[in-house]
Amino acid sequence: MQDVRAEINFNREVQRGYFLMGISTGWDEYTPGQFVMLRPPKGAGLLRMPFSIADSGNGEIQILYKVCGDGTHALSKLGPLDIIEVLGPLGKGFTLHQEKGNLIIIAGGIGIAPFVGMLRRIEGKARDVIFYYGAKDANAAGLHRLVSRDFVRLFIATEDGSVGQKGLITDVFIKDLARPNKLAGPRDPNGNYSCKDLTVFACGPEGLIRSVVDFLNSKGIVGEVSCEAYMGCGVGLCNSCTIAGKDGYLKVCEDGPVFKTDEIRFL
Ligand SMILES: Cc1cc2nc3c(=O)[nH]c(=O)nc-3n(C[C@H](O)[C@H](O)[C@H](O)COP(=O)(O)OP(=O)(O)OC[C@H]3O[C@@H](n4cnc5c(N)ncnc54)[C@H](O)[C@@H]3O)c2cc1C
Ligand code: FES
Repeated sequence: MQDVRAEINFNREVQRGYFLMGISTGWDEYTPGQFVMLRPPKGAGLLRMPFSIADSGNGEIQILYKVCGDGTHALSKLGPLDIIEVLGPLGKGFTLHQEKGNLIIIAGGIGIAPFVGMLRRIEGKARDVIFYYGAKDANAAGLHRLVSRDFVRLFIATEDGSVGQKGLITDVFIKDLARPNKLAGPRDPNGNYSCKDLTVFACGPEGLIRSVVDFLNSKGIVGEVSCEAYMGCGVGLCNSCTIAGKDGYLKVCEDGPVFKTDEIRFL
């Protein structure tokens, strides 16, 4: 973990209200799913904010963010050569084994961020990726371009029906996975899917995570999900980010933000 004041290389609006920022941190090693705490020095009164690392390379990390309040509005006003405080990489990321088999990703809205760099890393590694992306409208759905690759089968759903199927992406995913042999291969004698060649990752709002966790638990499939929580310190000191786990409370910043689906429970 490093705590640096770093120069911004670029800060581009990639869709209306959504920005991709490149920061010259001097480090670029991370596991997809890990995050950084950011604070623009000009807004010294602002708390540090957590953001997934979307991608990295050549001593730069990239952050994909949605403008939704004062902090992200302040970020959107920064440009090349401005300085920002970056603490990271923090937390635990997704467990990405390189073996063959389907990788199924379910992402909602800005939850697409950690998968941008993940897909770039596995490109050419003989793995089929099925990507379910849910967005509010056509503008947010446009972020799918950041994960479009030849080896990715992309399904999109929007709440207003302007792109892809109308409705929730979790409904599309659950319907597909409930069809025998469609995506997941054979079931065992108890009717559960074989987990052997199946990896399921999800990131998005709480409703999406709940649906994915409930469905996978009901089918005996263990996946991994990235959970959101309000964070103060980002490093396990303030207890502002606790969620319920199977064996007591978990800190999202330290024990996560990526958890196995059989590790967490919803109250
Ligand atoms: C591990 C982690 C990774 C994240 N990665 C990203 C990312 O890659 N891109 C991105 O745009 N955002 C990400 N977020 C959320 C981001 O931290 C918040 O959107 C940001 O802090 C909002 O700051 P603000 O001052 O602009 O808005 P605020 O005024 O603080 O809040 C604006 C709105 O966003 C909601 N909000 C704020 N923080 C959170 C939170 N932690 N979880 C859920 N809702 C929240 C508030 O309820 C409010 O409705 C992540 C959060 C966590 C915990
Ligand atoms: S954010 Fe402080 S303990 Fe997790």
